[in-house]
Amino acid sequence: MVLAKGDFEVSISHDGVEIWIAQMGPFANMNIAFINRENNVAIIVDPWDGKGWLSALEKEEITPSHILLTHTHRDHTHGVAQIRKVYPEIEVWGHEDSVSPSILGRIIFRRTDFTHVWKHLPDESVDWTAGNISLSVIHSPGHAPGHVTFHGHGVYVAGDLLFTMRSGRVDLPGSDPAAQWRSLRNARSVLESLPSDWRLIPGHRYDWIDGSTPDWVTIEEALTHNISLNSPNIETFDALPFNRFDDDLAA
Ligand SMILES: [Fe+2]
Repeated sequence: MVLAKGDFEVSISHDGVEIWIAQMGPFANMNIAFINRENNVAIIVDPWDGKGWLSALEKEEITPSHILLTHTHRDHTHGVAQIRKVYPEIEVWGHEDSVSPSILGRIIFRRTDFTHVWKHLPDESVDWTAGNISLSVIHSPGHAPGHVTFHGHGVYVAGDLLFTMRSGRVDLPGSDPAAQWRSLRNARSVLESLPSDWRLIPGHRYDWIDGSTPDWVTIEEALTHNISLNSPNIETFDALPFNRFDDDLAA
């Protein structure tokens, strides 16, 4: 399916967790929430449109309890302040490497004060739970320092590590192409271990192999067709054209 701006696709995982997915903002960012009403847990990942999330949740009388961030680029943290203004007690989680002082001043990062941080090493996975929601958090730097992915309840939230057919650029301040390659190899083995019909939610809804822009693909589809996941070695991966762009952000 292709979500219109501001629409929410709601489904229930086999273990009873509500999954809300939306596409928001001018860069086609994909947003997701994991919701467990009985325990008053509502987790929003990388909110773009804070007000949009708040009004959609308020209609259902749901209070957001956590924000989880894959990384702190502005387009993934845009809605954090709006949500915090209304819910100052909300927990905001990210990896501590993503708030390194050396990168805070760069234009593409938004200063984000986490209430809680993960500190694990690259490729390591930690389990994170709230209510009956349980996610694996994998440290996967390369596109950005401290980048993490989340998976559980039928979805793999890739952030800007992976899009449907490609992977995140590695020419930004704080990017590390070799780290990205290692994170992608680890992601491949993680994805191979997950049910093939789980959904891979990309950080942005970019082109798929047929020119369409689906909101997600299955893990099986990503493993088969994603160019970065199928690169045989770092040299081939590093030469892919979408790793680097000639634009202002890369300056
Ligand atoms: Fe990013």
